Amino acid sequence: MKCIGVLTSGGDAPGMNPAVRAVVRTALSKGIKVMGINRGYFGLINGDIEELTRTSVSDIIHKGGTILKTARCLEFKQEEVRKKAVNILKVFGIDGLVVIGGDGSFQGAKLLSDLGVATVGLPGTIDNDLAYTDYTIGFYTAVNTVLDAINKIRDTSSSHERVSIIEVMGRHCGDIALYAGIAGGAEQIIVPEKDYDLGEICKSIIEGRNSGKTHHMIILAEGVGGANELAKEIENLTGISSRATILGHIQRGGSPVTFDRILGARMGAHAIDTLMEGRSARVVGIKNNKIFDMDITEALQDVESDFDDDLYELAKILC
Ligand code: ADP
Ligand code: F6P
Repeated sequence: MKCIGVLTSGGDAPGMNPAVRAVVRTALSKGIKVMGINRGYFGLINGDIEELTRTSVSDIIHKGGTILKTARCLEFKQEEVRKKAVNILKVFGIDGLVVIGGDGSFQGAKLLSDLGVATVGLPGTIDNDLAYTDYTIGFYTAVNTVLDAINKIRDTSSSHERVSIIEVMGRHCGDIALYAGIAGGAEQIIVPEKDYDLGEICKSIIEGRNSGKTHHMIILAEGVGGANELAKEIENLTGISSRATILGHIQRGGSPVTFDRILGARMGAHAIDTLMEGRSARVVGIKNNKIFDMDITEALQDVESDFDDDLYELAKILC
């Protein structure tokens, strides 16, 4: 392995920059040249590639987003397009590829490895929707951002004695809602993995009000959706003023928290070791604080099946 490429793909996530930095500096420390591929698979098929040095990744550890830019490139689902990507990698002398992204980006990496490219995936997504790993890079920063919003909305909600519904990202996964809901002391957490009963929610709002509660915070995962409609229904059924806030892309930005910086650093370094030891079609993960790599196909079979029921039950007790 003399030269590796690195790209970020799919939705950006805070911590991608520390991961890119670790990939670059670990590779250089082992005498491997690094090429940065801009704009994900779109940049790859268009040869948007340049060499990265130690200083290319200076002053980025604290920055959200990704210096390599990211893109969604639907053409990459076509085999002819992926074959073109393989040729471009050959032209640039790249003999191993690190892909930082979510499950879609991993599908692309797996298909590239079927064409003979040595690939390693790092889980970079705020959604935490990859079941093979305890955490993805970016998840904890997004949870912190949501928590900050919950704290602020709680202030105004209490002053107005309102019900507040806060819709958070996560695609089909309820982890951002679950973790931020517990940390923010939400009264209800609504996630796609679990059914909910509107009657029960309204009952608990009225009981809370009767016991002197001045606010009622509901964290709603986007996979369930419908925050505005839910606010209207609750207002109609309880007679208590209700407001919805859809947090949106603010959750994807911001300086990565410590956990995401360390995770990006450890996973980035592990990706280089994996390639140097001759393993391909792998993804890097963390379980019980140990970094590991595993087969990408097996990891993808595991997607979206790891909701933490114990934590969800704990949330119900603590609310
Ligand atoms: P994420 O990686 O965050 O899940 P996407 O699902 O949007 O984000 O996927 C990112 C990119 O990965 C896509 O734009 C496409 O280039 C590539 N990709 C996704 N699914 C596939 C697939 N089935 N085959 C080949 N490439 C894919
Ligand atoms: O996968 C990350 C994510 O932020 C999801 O939580 C969300 O559903 C989606 O990306 C939004 O995508 P876009 O930035 O294309 O609107």
